[in-house]
Amino acid sequence: MTTTPERLQTPEGQTRLVQHFQERFIEDHNNGWKNLWDTDNSDMWDRGKPSPALINLLEQREDIISPVTADGRRKKVLVPGCGKGYDVVMLALHGFDVVGLELSPKGVSVAEEYARNELQAPQTHNFGSAWAKKSEPGSISFIQGDFFRSDTTKGLTFDVIYDYTFLCALHPTMRAGWAARMAELLVSGGLMVCLEFPLFKDVSLPGPPWPLKGVHWNLLAEGGDGIVYPPKENRPGGTGWFERKWYIKPETSYESGRGTDMLSVWARK
Ligand SMILES: C[S@@+](CC[C@H](N)C(=O)[O-])C[C@H]1O[C@@H](n2cnc3c(N)ncnc32)[C@H](O)[C@@H]1O
Repeated sequence: MTTTPERLQTPEGQTRLVQHFQERFIEDHNNGWKNLWDTDNSDMWDRGKPSPALINLLEQREDIISPVTADGRRKKVLVPGCGKGYDVVMLALHGFDVVGLELSPKGVSVAEEYARNELQAPQTHNFGSAWAKKSEPGSISFIQGDFFRSDTTKGLTFDVIYDYTFLCALHPTMRAGWAARMAELLVSGGLMVCLEFPLFKDVSLPGPPWPLKGVHWNLLAEGGDGIVYPPKENRPGGTGWFERKWYIKPETSYESGRGTDMLSVWARK
């Protein structure tokens, strides 16, 4: 039997994750994540490689996202809830200065070791078919702490934020806070790239991963609370902090996305 990370992303694996959180108060979710790291259960979500969809975006759509600013400095990227840091490392290898933010001290030490090894001898999974080395790798650093606490990021702001399986890891009542923090952490005109997952899962089902169909739009464009289930008569009609610039069906993504993952790219107003 294969033991690849993709095999571990089965409905059975997701059920274990749901069960782990369903008995906990929301205030105890942070401990729930730390406990999963400390008991070596990160296989429940770990895909074993960086995002193929993000790699293709970086290598094929420099018109959307490039690693340098107009005045020639490297762009600063934040990856919140970065886990083992696959995307942190891959972004740095593509020329960005990258910060991975992770709640779990154990997760950070695993990510630091992964980053050290990859920078010495990067695996091919960091690159796509259109890879062309244009610069030396950017910097990598990790912050251990809670994304929702301002003191975790110490006044830092970013040109780009990448979210994959962070929003869907959070209880729905935390979504409005997620959007507010994203708005605080991005410079005006900065980009937030979301690999939207899971979009195949019925919105009435529990998580993590919490189903996200319609959630990004409500939160970021409409300025709603992102709680799309149960359906409300009057969804908030405010104005969000973000404008959706691109909405792309990636040619490839993780198998666990079941062909439904979408890449959305949002500009901070
Ligand atoms: C589903 S995992 C995804 C990890 C990573 N994005 C990946 O693709 O492998 C969610 C991660 O978010 C972290 N996390 C959960 N709540 C957090 C918080 N409030 N602040 C920072 N990290 C958090 C967890 O420890 C976990 O590593």
